Amino acid sequence: MVPTAEQFDVVIIGGGPGGYAAALYGANAGLNIAVVEKDKVGGTCLHRGCIPAKEFLETAHVYRTVAGAKEFGVVSEQPTVEFATSQARKQKVVDQLWKGLQGLMKKRKITTIEGTGTLHGGKTVRVDDGTELKGRHVILASGSLPRTIPGFEPDGRYVMTSDEVLSLDRLPTSAVVIGGGAIGCEFASMMSDLGAQVTILEALPKLLPGCDKDVVDVVARSFKRRGIDVHLGVKVHGHEPGDTGTTVKYGEGEQITVDAVVVSVGRRPLSENLGLDGTAVELDERGFVRVDERLRTAEPGVYAVGDLVATPALAHVGFAEAIVAIKDILGEDPLPIDYGKVPWCIYCHPEVAFAGLSEEAAVEAGYDVITKKDPYAGNGRAIIVGETEGLVKVIAEKLPDGRAGRILGVHMVGPWVTEQLGQGYLAVNWEAVPDEVAQFIQPHPTMSEVFGETVLALTGRGLHA
Ligand code: NAI
Repeated sequence: MVPTAEQFDVVIIGGGPGGYAAALYGANAGLNIAVVEKDKVGGTCLHRGCIPAKEFLETAHVYRTVAGAKEFGVVSEQPTVEFATSQARKQKVVDQLWKGLQGLMKKRKITTIEGTGTLHGGKTVRVDDGTELKGRHVILASGSLPRTIPGFEPDGRYVMTSDEVLSLDRLPTSAVVIGGGAIGCEFASMMSDLGAQVTILEALPKLLPGCDKDVVDVVARSFKRRGIDVHLGVKVHGHEPGDTGTTVKYGEGEQITVDAVVVSVGRRPLSENLGLDGTAVELDERGFVRVDERLRTAEPGVYAVGDLVATPALAHVGFAEAIVAIKDILGEDPLPIDYGKVPWCIYCHPEVAFAGLSEEAAVEAGYDVITKKDPYAGNGRAIIVGETEGLVKVIAEKLPDGRAGRILGVHMVGPWVTEQLGQGYLAVNWEAVPDEVAQFIQPHPTMSEVFGETVLALTGRGLHA
């Protein structure tokens, strides 16, 4: 039991990626830290998001590998999926990481308090068990929840958000996925690869809004080839549950009956239970906490990080924000995050990874651009692995003499691109020019040669392109 009104250097509300990164980084810098968490440290990312979703996508990868093994001369029986076993393995992975995180926090002498924390005046945090903590600084990191749409509230039977999908012990045989963003495409890809008949209903005219068009085209082609039915620019009008499925109404009088409906239409900040009375902390009209470029709220000494603020809802952005907040607390004058250049990774098959502007966004921002694309189809390693679908596209500023200047964006789709983005991320964030990056030697044979080749092509002298 923590003594009443115990004083800490930093009190953090929420133990997800934003909160635990602030705790670990701050404790390593010698700060005395308390974290208030109502559920489990690790948050959405570890327990209901990134980690479990990627674990299931890996199951889909293993399935595809075994199903295609014959081509390599490896003969096995046609695979079948025991989803309960996949679910148990996913839980093992999550629990191992959870245990590791708890161990790290303990080792750094971070005080973890179970309960819901609210912030009050004087940087006082009250926990619902009556404990009161005072922080010289407070970091709000209470995260986000899946958004739902009217008529599609999770019902414990047919309608689910990511929270429920990730704890299923049996896969649906057919599913409608509402929303073709990052989560929708990851779930659609995973369920389809494991044998479900999947239909995506997306309100906008393209999948994966925000991604470069050439990248989206590759994903859309792959989904079509694998039998995922994609309907773009459609509205959903509700569903009628029956005994063995539910009928989803959409578009102009169309309908489809399925076992499951997955709603993946974005996430909303979880700010309504933060208290905040007697403080100057402000929320915007969508419920995000307003912060400046150092994640400072309007209340002196109070910060907000992660999905609670209106920045990309990515765990690694939460980590980066946590570090900026702690450095500011330490008086270290941190550099603000350049949100337009953070790395994005989407783990559907084929994977998507990018940093910086897409071609459309660069043109819209007024840049005269020069672009090059190189496909994985000609890459030795990709051919060996048998995954040649995809490409790398680099967007650079066009100089007055027509040559390629500063690299504005690197966009990848294909095998293991989430692991290949690093060089592209550095190029974009260092504002490097192709002549410099083209000097880097790419090991052969690797898939990273496709990035090297694309940049070389931008110098005007590619080996292939
Ligand atoms: P999202 O914002 O990426 O996509 C939501 C999609 O739903 C959009 O395409 C939107 O047009 C569509 N939509 C909205 N209302 C709709 C309606 N009524 N009918 C049909 N379509 C509708 O949100 P998502 O996929 O739920 O992910 C939430 C957040 O989680 C994202 O902001 C993303 O940053 C993060 N995330 C990132 C991942 C990654 O990077 N690998 C993976 C999963 C989530």
